[in-house]
Order: sequence, then structure tokens, then C-alpha cells
Amino acid sequence: MSSRIAIKKLFETNPVGETVTIKGWIRSVRNSKAFSFLVVNDGTHLDSMQVVVDASLENYSEISALLTGSSVAITGLVVKSGGKGQAIEMQAFSAEVIGAAGEGYPLQKKASSLEFLRDNAHFRARTNLFGAIFRIRHELAMATHEFFSNRGFYYLNSPIITAVDGEGAGEMFKVTTLNMENPPKTDKGNIDYSKDYFGKEVSLAVTGQLEGECHALGLGAIYTFGPTFRSENSNTKRHLSEFWMIEPEVAFADLDEIADLAADYIKHLVSHALNKCSHELDFIWKLPFSDVDATHKDILENVRDSEFLKITYTEAIEILSKSGVKFEYPTNWGDELQTEHERYLTEKHFQRPVIVTNYPAGFKAFYMKQNDDGKTVRAMDVLVPGIGEIIGGSQREEDIDKLIARMDKDGMDKSGYWWYLDLRRYGSVPHAGFGLGFERAIMYITGMSNIRDVIAFPRTPKSCDF
Ligand code: 4AD
Ligand code: MG
Repeated sequence: MSSRIAIKKLFETNPVGETVTIKGWIRSVRNSKAFSFLVVNDGTHLDSMQVVVDASLENYSEISALLTGSSVAITGLVVKSGGKGQAIEMQAFSAEVIGAAGEGYPLQKKASSLEFLRDNAHFRARTNLFGAIFRIRHELAMATHEFFSNRGFYYLNSPIITAVDGEGAGEMFKVTTLNMENPPKTDKGNIDYSKDYFGKEVSLAVTGQLEGECHALGLGAIYTFGPTFRSENSNTKRHLSEFWMIEPEVAFADLDEIADLAADYIKHLVSHALNKCSHELDFIWKLPFSDVDATHKDILENVRDSEFLKITYTEAIEILSKSGVKFEYPTNWGDELQTEHERYLTEKHFQRPVIVTNYPAGFKAFYMKQNDDGKTVRAMDVLVPGIGEIIGGSQREEDIDKLIARMDKDGMDKSGYWWYLDLRRYGSVPHAGFGLGFERAIMYITGMSNIRDVIAFPRTPKSCDF
């Protein structure tokens, strides 16, 4: 048998008159007396190949009895399509069953709800919607490497198992090989982690930033792109317990430079998606599942082509307080910006993405550079319509005394951070970086409204299947 060709390739080249072999999964079968009509998708393209199988084929009875979900290899002639929609279809010379699908295949022709598909995430990649989402996700990952690599950033694989809490927020999943039924105890009756695999208490990383800082202060500029884990009990459409984050870190950079980098990066992602995934995006925007419609294209083009707005936290609080809107959470100076506030700013007030800077130190992480006012830190969040925070970042505190004072104020045990403090002892320089939540970026660009639908196998509180 000749080798397999991707259906995408066929739709790109329309090779009428050529004989080709495709392999894929049957989306539907329609039988008449003289022929069967198979719709075959191989995951490379949104559109499926229509295949006419003539009743004269020797295994016709086997083929015409196939159910949705079966995998097949079809060799046949590419011909002009009679129907509307696609330019080409295939006339099969031979059809081979690779793996028949039994009764009960969950993806039947009637539209399935997103909830149902989440419960069947092992088959989601075989649907038009999720095929589109995961091809877009792939493109955005490639665009990320392209963006940073072209700008001289080195890709760092920061550790996943770590002994420090990089955000100081205590939302970590412990990693242990101790027998939890009967763990070793210290004299004081606590679990004795010195007997554990690593000889100490360790967890899954909530961020790669601290290790990223080490390498930025050596290589100049790095970015991480890896999974991060948070045990925060946030059961929302925007939170995952396991999500992917891109974290660039730049030596000798300040907050302004990193804010500009963040804007350029988002523009690059948007531009790449519009260029490479327009077929997929147009399809998603037509569905009722996404929060957006075809006008999302204009919105994204506008984001790609215009400057990002920058305001301070203090200005944001003023706007919110004067808005006359009754928010659930208060908007006094010093209060955290909640999603409802972030969404008001981007959706109602500015109607586009906005970068908020100089937040109160109180609810921001220990490593952020302290401003001279003694109240705020050189932090930034990038907020976008529909989601709220998509990026969090900051200039880092490079002054060891100020950093230690803040860690002490937060009651942190500094012993595990000796190496992080060393960066400030030996050749300290101003530096800054940010983290983009990859799934939130995909949500923003596709308009999908639930973060569980833009990651292959979502992990959320009380849910870890597959
Ligand atoms: O604001 P965060 O917590 O910042 C950091 O982790 C810093 N270490 C980044 C840095 O400066 N290098 O998280 C960064 C981004 C958020 O803006 C959000 O997009 C995403 O990560 N994020 C989540 N995405 C999905 N589920 C969660 N539970 C998330 N928590 C944060
Ligand atoms: Mg944040």
C-alpha cells in the first residue's frame, strides 16, 4: 500500500486525478444501494474527506457496516467534488478496516455538550471543535518559541520538583514517597521529612521564576515554558490545578521594558493565530460554545495593531470607585483587584487589554521590587476582556536587605532560599520578568469560555481523570 498522505495536504493542493492513501477515523457512514459515502477525518484539517466506496468493492459489506469512530485506510482517486463545500473528494479503489468501532462509541452525530466531552476527554481530539483548539494550541506554542528565540532568549527547563515556594503563597502539592498510613515522626510529633526520598519536604513547582532568575543572571535572558501546579481551591472557569506557563526573565531590565515585552508577545501570539489558524478560529467563532462571535477577529486585529494601555493600580482604583457600579468586592486603595474589577476595566471602561502597574505590596509576592513610596511594588498585570488577568510580572527586588526584610515580614523560612539570596550577594543586577498563563492566552484568542476546554486533560479540585 502506498504511504499515507495528510488530508490537510490534499485540501491544500487539490491533486485531482492522483491516486492517494489516507488513514483516519470515520465521522459518518451513509449507505445507498450502489455505494457508501464515508466521511473520514485524520486530525490534520478541520474538514473531513468525503469518500465514495462503490458497492463493487470486494469487502463492501464490511465497509458499509462500519460504525462511526472506526479507523480506516482508503486508497483511491482524487476527483472534483460534486457537492458544495469542498473542492475535492475521493473515489475508493480499496478500503481497509484498521480498527472497527463497536457499539457505544460516545461521539455520535448529534452535537455533544462540552460537559459530556470533558467526561470523554480521551476522544475529544476526534471532534472538529477540539481538533481546532489543539491545532491552535500547537501553533501558539510554536509561536512562543519563535518569539523568544528570535529575540535572543534561551529556553530554560526549570525544575518541576522543588524545595521552595516560588510565590510564597503556600499553594503547593507535596511530593513524597513516605508511607502516609504510618509516616515517620519527629520527637515533636510532626512528620519527619528527613526520612523522605529527598531528605526534606518538597513539592511541585508553582513557578519556574526563581530558577529562571538564576539563569537570566548568567545567560542574560531566558524563558521557561512548562507545567506549573497550584493547589489553590479555585473552582472557576479560569483556574486549573495544573497549567502551563511561559516565564521570560531578563537581566538589566526594568518594569517598563518587561511591560513592552509582554505587549509584543501577546501581539505576536495574536498575529500568528490570525495568520496560521484562521480556518479554525472562524469555525470556533461561529459556534455557540465560545464567548465571542465573528467580530472577535476585528477585536484581535485591533489588539495586534494598537499600543497597549498602561495605567497604575491607583488610577485603576479611581476608575472603579467612580464607576458607579456596585461590585461584590470593595474597591478601596489596598484592596486586591478581583476578576469583576479586571473585567470592568477591560470590557466596559477601556474595551481593550490594559496593563496595570505598581500594585500595593500587601497582596503581591515577596520578590517584587519595592518602590520608594514604601507602599507599592513594581508589579504589573496584563488584563484582557473576557478573562481578566492573563499575565503577572514584576521587576525583582535586587537589594538583599530589602528582600530579606520583606521575607521576614511575611514570616518566610529563608533557609531554603539561600541560593536565591546569593544572586543578590554576588553580582546583583536589576532584572524583571513575567508569567503568561498559556491556557488563558488560548481562551482569549479562541474565545472559549472554560479553561477546561483548552487543555488536553484538565486537573481541577476534585477532578483528575485520565
Ligand atoms: O500571577 P502569577 O501567579 O505569577 C507568577 O507565577 C510569576 N512567578 C510570574 C513571573 O513573574 N515569572 O501567574 C502568572 C499567570 C497569571 O497571570 C495567569 O495567567 C496564570 O499564570 N495562572 C493560572 N492559569 C490557570 N490556572 C491557575 N490556577 C493560574 N494561576 C495563574
Ligand atoms: Mg497574578
